[in-house]
Amino acid sequence: MHKPIDLPILYFGTPVVLISTINDDGSVNIAPSSSIWWLGKSCMIGLDGSSKTTENLKRTKECVLNLPSADIVDAINKIANTTGTKSVPLHKKAWGYRYLKSKVEEAGLTVQQAVKVNPPRIEECQVQLEATVAKTHRFSDNSLVPMFAFELSIIQCHIEESILMGDKKQYVDPDEWHPLIMSFRKFYTTNDYIHPSRLNNISVEKYRVREMKGLVGGLVKNMFSFLYREHRKL
Ligand SMILES: Cc1cc2nc3c(=O)[nH]c(=O)nc-3n(C[C@H](O)[C@H](O)[C@H](O)COP(=O)(O)O)c2cc1C
Repeated sequence: MHKPIDLPILYFGTPVVLISTINDDGSVNIAPSSSIWWLGKSCMIGLDGSSKTTENLKRTKECVLNLPSADIVDAINKIANTTGTKSVPLHKKAWGYRYLKSKVEEAGLTVQQAVKVNPPRIEECQVQLEATVAKTHRFSDNSLVPMFAFELSIIQCHIEESILMGDKKQYVDPDEWHPLIMSFRKFYTTNDYIHPSRLNNISVEKYRVREMKGLVGGLVKNMFSFLYREHRKL
């Protein structure tokens, strides 16, 4: 039996990311977020419009998505009810949030210089993704607090070697990578490998076809779009 139900929040379980951005005074802000999904080399993140991170992303158009693994859950939890916005917005005040200037220090984390963007990487995170903002969308007009969805282009990945596999250590090993996952306000991780996937019958290298760069890439991309449109007409 399924029960029709009005859930207060739809937290079905997504990885946690620690977003680092640069404040207007040049200092670093980090914020945990779990509204995130990837498609190809892009990703979408969803943020409360009153967040310091939202302000910083709109202004600087860049960030690093640091993906914590299960072992640093305490550091993430330490900065859970905090914001880098000095005057804490009313709804966050009601939830018991407080302003915190240096969340990196409070969490006991270490910053590392990024290669292609200004915000730093967080050393303790095994996955670090340097990103730029491709598009900004106002999200869910029904929400009292404005919300935004940022489409990010991932321009540089850094992966800690202990979670890599392959003869050239060129792939992430899902048996070694245990992301921190938020599900209905409790933290989880992946440990139970339950079944092989049919997707694994396709060589992972074939996924690179989607990244078409330069003149030849542009031509191939146009050809694919044309064929796709023609196919849709059938
Ligand atoms: C595990 C976790 C997941 C969170 N997920 C989100 C989220 O998806 N979107 C969001 O706007 N805030 C999320 N938050 C709350 C933000 O961290 C919070 O709004 C914070 O004040 C943002 O920091 P900032 O104002 O310094 O940017 C999450 C917090 C935690 C601890």
